[in-house]
Amino acid sequence: MSGVPPPDVPPDVPDEGPPPPLKTAAATATAGAAARSDAGKAAPARTPARTPAAAGARRPKQDCEPIIVVKNLRNAFGDAVIHEDLDLTVCRGEILGVVGGSGTGKSVLLRSIIGLQTPEQGEVEVLGENMIDRTEDEAKNIRRRWGVLFQNGALFSTLTVAENVEVPIREYFPFLKPPLLDEIASYKIAMGGLPPDAGPKYPSELSGGMVKRAGLARALSLDPELLFLDEPTAGLDPIAAAAFDQLILSLQQRLGLTVFLITHDLDTLHAICDRVAVLADKKVIAVDTIPNLLALDHPWIQEYFNGPRGRTAAESYYKEGAVA
Ligand SMILES: Nc1ncnc2c1ncn2[C@@H]1O[C@H](COP(=O)(O)OP(=O)(O)O)[C@@H](O)[C@H]1O
Ligand SMILES: [Mg+2]
Repeated sequence: MSGVPPPDVPPDVPDEGPPPPLKTAAATATAGAAARSDAGKAAPARTPARTPAAAGARRPKQDCEPIIVVKNLRNAFGDAVIHEDLDLTVCRGEILGVVGGSGTGKSVLLRSIIGLQTPEQGEVEVLGENMIDRTEDEAKNIRRRWGVLFQNGALFSTLTVAENVEVPIREYFPFLKPPLLDEIASYKIAMGGLPPDAGPKYPSELSGGMVKRAGLARALSLDPELLFLDEPTAGLDPIAAAAFDQLILSLQQRLGLTVFLITHDLDTLHAICDRVAVLADKKVIAVDTIPNLLALDHPWIQEYFNGPRGRTAAESYYKEGAVA
């Protein structure tokens, strides 16, 4: 690769600004229809990949409105220190990729941000709210503003896809009755890019890609502003992974989401992430675009992005003649 990607917008990505988050059932229906039309599109091939313009469309924003701020974070399990002096800021409207070797604490970082892991030290602010030392009611209020797709999908195996999607809705809107609940669930299932007949199925009846999409549908159930995805394309074949990437990108643009995306997937990083945060040495050692990260002299960064797999992924996205 020989430079930064061009600023072109790819033909399959709308170039209008993101709309505000959708809050009404009617608006949700619109979004569902939009996502359904996306779901019918053929999955782009991964290698040789999409047009280089696809990667170029993801430009880091000049103005950062901080939506997640982590300062001086320390996490330890017994003697094992996972994070020390970790700082990270995520900007509204970006897709932030989070990378790092296995066991470096990516999932623990996610858990710290969403309040499932109490850090030993540090500050965590999400959507302007302090996440440390909150009452259960305060935590519940803030939790409804984000959606999470956990590493293993974490669907309830004894519930259908539709019932899984309805779980968070029932928690926050216990007065909603089945016909409306079912309707909302079916919109969310469509937004996850699943066909309508996926709703009555159980997780064991779904392929790996469909489980991820069902988890995504559930993560979208409360019209979140913020989406946390923990290795969403792990275990998917390249075509399913590329389709999932495009679904995330499309949802991010249509719904104006901010996305915190933990991944090992170099194709995903190139295709849809605005910036990438690198977790190493117990902290976030850099947050930047991939071209800028490549200029850093850190051994893990060089090995990861400039090793054989990293170069192959990069070459697919920034082909000769397509760089600015
Ligand atoms: N609840 C826990 N108790 C003890 N150790 C844990 C716990 N959760 C995670 N760890 C350890 O913390 C480290 C980071 O884990 P994790 O965040 O899951 O890594 P990854 O970067 O692969 O997502 C690992 O060594 C893991 O074994
Ligand atoms: Mg993990």
